Amino acid sequence: MRRTVLISKHIYQEAVDQLIARADVDYNNSDESLPAEELRRRVAGKHGLVCQLTDRIGPSLLDSAEGLRVVSNVAVGFDNIDVAAATERGIIVTNTPGVLTDTTADLAFALILGAGRRLGEAERYLRAGRFKQWRINLLTGWDIWGATLGIFGLGRIGQAVARRGRGFNMRLLYYDPYRQSEEVEQALGVQYASKEEVLRQADFITLHCALTPETHHLIGREELGLMKPTAVLVNTSRGPVVDEAALADALQSGRIAAAGLDVFEHEPAVHPKLLTLENALIVPHIASASVATRTRMCCMAAENMIAVLDGERPPNIVNPEVLD
Ligand code: DGY
Repeated sequence: MRRTVLISKHIYQEAVDQLIARADVDYNNSDESLPAEELRRRVAGKHGLVCQLTDRIGPSLLDSAEGLRVVSNVAVGFDNIDVAAATERGIIVTNTPGVLTDTTADLAFALILGAGRRLGEAERYLRAGRFKQWRINLLTGWDIWGATLGIFGLGRIGQAVARRGRGFNMRLLYYDPYRQSEEVEQALGVQYASKEEVLRQADFITLHCALTPETHHLIGREELGLMKPTAVLVNTSRGPVVDEAALADALQSGRIAAAGLDVFEHEPAVHPKLLTLENALIVPHIASASVATRTRMCCMAAENMIAVLDGERPPNIVNPEVLD
């Protein structure tokens, strides 16, 4: 029997072709997400759903999708999916880890450099015709070379950022509830510290944890209060890991120096105050956005899907207990 798959939103054609070769595909070839009701209607009767982080996959959608065997997310993060609800219903959830590690780490480092050296602000200044003459304190920022980098979450992406930090002669501290082995710490040149110590000592703090109930508002008013007034916060993980209102206040009052943000608490909305602050370098969730990486993510999502449709264990399963 031919399998049926819904692709919820535009993806790279290579992945669409892989899926079309193996299944009857209902493809929303649009950059607009399907409205919840249409998503529910079109997923009904399908065996697989290829979705993106803009699709909310919760219990009621899963209930209306009788026969659904797999939800294949085109992202490493999967907080848009109620995995527990999928597991209860015996539905496999897959993601796309690994292929976006270095691209995401590059962007995190770009934000470290860009926020630390005030690049957004400097460009706005120049374009506004304000550059009349060189002066000694014009747009002075904070050195990256030799500074202390605090990494929250030393998984794949956190480690890739650590490697970049080493190239900039940075002292590397990290906090993660799961401490890495001594070998990994030594190979990366990182030093484990408590959350409070990382907050107190780091010149740059970069967030690389998944969004879970434990990491929601991991950085709030209290944590911002522990940071150096010259510190720079970078977030390429998920917006709600930071209390955005508290961050906006901290940036406005000069409690911390600057922030580089790729993700937002109520995405795509951005806290209105952040939009007005010169010391907030903000970009629209583009950390994994290179053509090669986004293509690989789509193909990996297709491969995960096809494996399940073929009755095999998908390479990147989030809820293996469904199969065990
Ligand atoms: C992810 O994969 O989770 C990113 O946020 C988008 O690449």
